[in-house]
Amino acid sequence: MLNRIKETVDSGLSRRRFLTGALAAGAALTLADRLALAQTMATGGLTAKDIHGIGVEPGLVRMALNENPIGPSPRALEAIAENMFKINRYSFGGGDIFGALAEFDGLELPPPPRFGGTGRMGGGGRFFRQTPFYITAGSGALLSQIALTYLSKGGTEVIEADMGYGDISGDAENYLEAGLDVNIIRTPMKDYKHDLDAMLAAITPKTSVVVITNPNNPTGTLLSFEETEKFVAAVPENVIVVIDEAYIHFVRDPQYQTAASLTRKYENVIVTRTFSKVFGMPGMRLGYGICSQAIQEKLRFYRTGSANALAYAAGEASLKDRNHYDRSRAVVQHFRDRLEDEFTKMGLEYIPSESNFMMVDLGKPSMNIMREMFQKGVMVTNRRRQQMPTWIRVSSGDERETEVFLNVLKEALGKTS
Ligand SMILES: Cc1ncc(COP(=O)(O)O)c(C=O)c1O
Repeated sequence: MLNRIKETVDSGLSRRRFLTGALAAGAALTLADRLALAQTMATGGLTAKDIHGIGVEPGLVRMALNENPIGPSPRALEAIAENMFKINRYSFGGGDIFGALAEFDGLELPPPPRFGGTGRMGGGGRFFRQTPFYITAGSGALLSQIALTYLSKGGTEVIEADMGYGDISGDAENYLEAGLDVNIIRTPMKDYKHDLDAMLAAITPKTSVVVITNPNNPTGTLLSFEETEKFVAAVPENVIVVIDEAYIHFVRDPQYQTAASLTRKYENVIVTRTFSKVFGMPGMRLGYGICSQAIQEKLRFYRTGSANALAYAAGEASLKDRNHYDRSRAVVQHFRDRLEDEFTKMGLEYIPSESNFMMVDLGKPSMNIMREMFQKGVMVTNRRRQQMPTWIRVSSGDERETEVFLNVLKEALGKTS
């Protein structure tokens, strides 16, 4: 049976053209494939009907949700197949995801737990290994847990940029509606980037949490490590600093230093990460925080569930698959280069992106254009409709999807008033 599943996985991999991913990374394409593609592109003839994207129905070019167009790592699929016959058992972390995370993020791990050693009993007598990593079923769940932990008691305050991701301040709005005393401060951005001085100046004695999304969604802008560190050092110790690094893997500079190391130095910092983007598995729901034991102990009071065994296995395998990681980055790099080039020719203003999506100003109400594009099978979004009504955010597609997006956008701009 396992062999049959492996065969299915293998044939699925080739059938669904992991080829398209390889294409953008410049790998494993025959000359004939390249010529055929070059020809279709040169004629500008690609439409959504020519596309069967991974994980979506044929004819739909889904470039709205910041997903990974090349799918998950084949190693992750194998790990799922290998572990699926064990799901009748409660999992006690059979693999070594903590080791894989430590290696990936360049952080030290304490020695493996012996009871009474590097672990700790949590609520309900559960045993937790003391590591820098706090694993959850997706990073959205973690952001909600942070909001619950630090904002739901009332008498609290959250600061987030007015065009930040907005999950935590969104939860705070719900608490406010439910009658809790929560203050929400939204600081303006500067050149579509977090204005850290403004965020710092906004802190009051009531402030419990400040949130930075880096790179930011939806603007795709990036703070340098130095800017982030200076900010963290200036925030009072009693204020929790959330640094959401869902898209950090797409930063152009391979030498870019993430904020992970700051969590070792500052007890009040939590970096959040997800397996939904570069690792291409949002459907599995896996995310994690990097933070102190002090934060983890507080978060555990509000823990309502955990990630599942297949997600753990797939996550560990993904972290070890450098090839898939590099290919995912290459696809995004191609997407950004192609769009920058074409938007410049079209005279459209765009925000240079350090992420797997890009914001572009269409110069007219984007809602109509989005509708028309959707009718032609291309799905994009305009996440900041209020502040930026003429802009859209387009998420990375593979090389062919990106061409269809450009074709359809040009048509729509030519036609829509
Ligand atoms: C900035 C940011 N943080 C967190 C998330 C949540 O991701 P997930 O819950 O899939 O881990 C997203 C999803 O798009 C996001 O854009």
